[in-house]
Amino acid sequence: MTEDAVPASELYTPEFAANPYPAFARLRAEKPVCPISSPRFDSYLITRFDDAKAALVDPRLSKDLYGPGQEYLRIFGPNSEALNKNMLNADPPEHTRLRRIVSQAFAPRRVEALRPRVAEIVDNLLDKIIPQGQAELMHDFAIPLPMMVISQLLGIPETDHERVLDWTQVIRTSGSSGRSPAEDRAAVQEAQLRLHHYLVDLIQAKRAHPGDDMISALIDACEHDGHLSEPELVTTTFLLLFAGHQTTADFLGNATVALLTNPDQLDLLRAKPELLPSAIEELLRFDGPLPVASPRIATEDVEYQGVRIPRGSIVGVVINAANHDPAHFADPDRLDLRRVRGPHIGFGHGVHYCLGVSLARMEAQIAIEALLRRLPDLRLGVPVSQLRRLPAGSPFRGLLELPVEFTAWD
Ligand code: HEM
Repeated sequence: MTEDAVPASELYTPEFAANPYPAFARLRAEKPVCPISSPRFDSYLITRFDDAKAALVDPRLSKDLYGPGQEYLRIFGPNSEALNKNMLNADPPEHTRLRRIVSQAFAPRRVEALRPRVAEIVDNLLDKIIPQGQAELMHDFAIPLPMMVISQLLGIPETDHERVLDWTQVIRTSGSSGRSPAEDRAAVQEAQLRLHHYLVDLIQAKRAHPGDDMISALIDACEHDGHLSEPELVTTTFLLLFAGHQTTADFLGNATVALLTNPDQLDLLRAKPELLPSAIEELLRFDGPLPVASPRIATEDVEYQGVRIPRGSIVGVVINAANHDPAHFADPDRLDLRRVRGPHIGFGHGVHYCLGVSLARMEAQIAIEALLRRLPDLRLGVPVSQLRRLPAGSPFRGLLELPVEFTAWD
């Protein structure tokens, strides 16, 4: 790693966890391609919008993180590959093959058919908290909603939701549990192992008794086309389960805080609910749940902004920095629900563009509309500076807890 590398510990401070945008602005201006050194692995961060978009479609930046000789993802333990060797960590033509099969099972018809059920889940969750006048919105609403939706889509029985949620939360909150790093790693590996066994068993059960759900559709697709192996079924299901609720949950939390701390924009949205679809895009641009795209690896030396990124380097495309690039977004740190200029890259770009985008948008629209309509005086229960967040180095940007208050009614 070059001498001017920034130690990860200098970047990922508690201030960064609370608000990474000033640090992103500095990086964009001063070191738009920044080498980062850390005891576990070195990487390069790309923070300008144009570079980020270019990097996300650069074939020299591979997603094949389990390819021969690749060590990076193996630091996440022996079960990592059994769960994560999926389309997100593959290049074409492997990626194309895996994504095509899932896209078929992820037909818009299947997603759209979920709309009434999503509205029902939202209402049921709100029914439970409304009489109490206060809630911890992550655990009472933002986390269970997408978890229940993706479970319904995949066909995970309701009786299993709690334990599946427990395992995925161990993975999500890694680094913030108060455990030592070694204990934390062991807990994540244990959760991955249990989740892996669970998914293997579930797929077996679906094979014997198919239902009208996506896992059964995937099994059907691979029986007809022979395109998806048994391990690929497991890794694909894991990707859909994890990507399908983790990001949406963190997005709902971040979006709620953004609205509650920008009362003019909140009032605007209440007055003009027709702004909701564009508001969702702006909220995602403003404080997205996936600050850095999943890692890429340079298959040859590449150069961005005159900085040589040597072959074998891990490259992080910083979505949340790119989405605040003043070259593309005027006054980028201002939440402006009427903003129209410049599409953001909060759902990625290129072949790995989010496969669940229509589901994510639908869930977010239904959830935020209902939240604002049914809790008209919703407010934060603690000052924003006291909100407990995922740690600075987490791959996700989200809240551990979101205490809120409102007037209770029956
Ligand atoms: C990929 C964001 C919700 C499934 C991605 C990527 C981003 C993203 C940025 C590309 C990552 C990369 O290139 O490294 C989001 C956000 C969401 C969301 C911000 C919520 C607000 C969902 C949902 C699903 C989903 C609900 C449903 C299952 C996927 C899948 C991929 C993906 C399968 C991998 C696609 C591929 O590799 O071809 N998402 N996502 N996402 N997302 Fe989402």
